[in-house]
Amino acid sequence: MNKIIGRCIWVTGASSGLGRALVQQLAEAGNYVIASARSHTALVDLALQYPGKIKVFPLDVSHQLDMEKAAAQLREFTDYLDMVICAAGICEYEDNLSFDPTMYERTMDVNFLGVVRALNLALPLLRRAQQRAHFVAISSLSTCVGFPRAEAYGASKAALNYFMQSLRADAVKLPLDLTLVRPGFIATELVKNNDFSMPFLMTPEQASLRVIKGINSGKFLVDFPRRLSWPLGIASFFFNTWCKYFAPKLTRLHKL
Ligand SMILES: NC(=O)c1ccc[n+]([C@@H]2O[C@H](COP(=O)([O-])OP(=O)(O)OC[C@H]3O[C@@H](n4cnc5c(N)ncnc54)[C@H](OP(=O)(O)O)[C@@H]3O)[C@@H](O)[C@H]2O)c1
Repeated sequence: MNKIIGRCIWVTGASSGLGRALVQQLAEAGNYVIASARSHTALVDLALQYPGKIKVFPLDVSHQLDMEKAAAQLREFTDYLDMVICAAGICEYEDNLSFDPTMYERTMDVNFLGVVRALNLALPLLRRAQQRAHFVAISSLSTCVGFPRAEAYGASKAALNYFMQSLRADAVKLPLDLTLVRPGFIATELVKNNDFSMPFLMTPEQASLRVIKGINSGKFLVDFPRRLSWPLGIASFFFNTWCKYFAPKLTRLHKL
């Protein structure tokens, strides 16, 4: 049963993919949803589909100044938040051992610091939640084990995992629920240029249903699909075996 009804929810990364599907499904379920991303046109288009149920404002989570403007925008729409879902994310791959620091900065800025900034901004409103406050971060199953080319993306999501675990330990006595979601492959803009096989690929709508089900379950860690999370969990346990037998099939590097 969906228990997420009648809540005031802010979703980042709402202009496409998983974030957009979450906004649509949460609005359909009778929630008041505030949707943010950089592409204002896509957000307006989304709001037009659900008049009165979705409010939108443009936001770049990698800019502190934008976040300060966002605080004022959020307060125009609501004086409390019951839930925040941080879905904004980018993915860039490490190719040819270039270690371009600016690529690492971009990725950390959106995938990790973007979540910290969103929490910083939302916390005063979460403190006034009408129902129990809930903070949700979207990480990735890629953090189960070191994947070739994922040094930047995987590290940013691994930082997010640790942040959420540490926050959970800090919040054990607080009226704040936390969920860390680690999805497998979803057919979105983020992976549209991936030129490798993506097992058990889901649509954004399927993934969004799994996220909502996971939030409803009350679990801290929500991994899906299980067909992928279990093998990756085993791979993380036997990391030497992963490097010996699987990584050589995945890496594209042959010389230093
Ligand atoms: N697709 C997958 O296979 C997969 C797997 C595991 C986890 N995930 C995670 O799921 C989340 C959603 O990704 P997706 O697959 O739905 O990709 P997507 O369709 O590319 O959506 C990413 C969203 O993040 C927003 N965004 C990017 N940079 C931003 C910034 N600087 N400030 C604010 N918003 C920003 C984008 O909107 P604008 O460009 O309009 O700002 C877009 O709405 C991400 O955190 C991703 O890491 C995805």
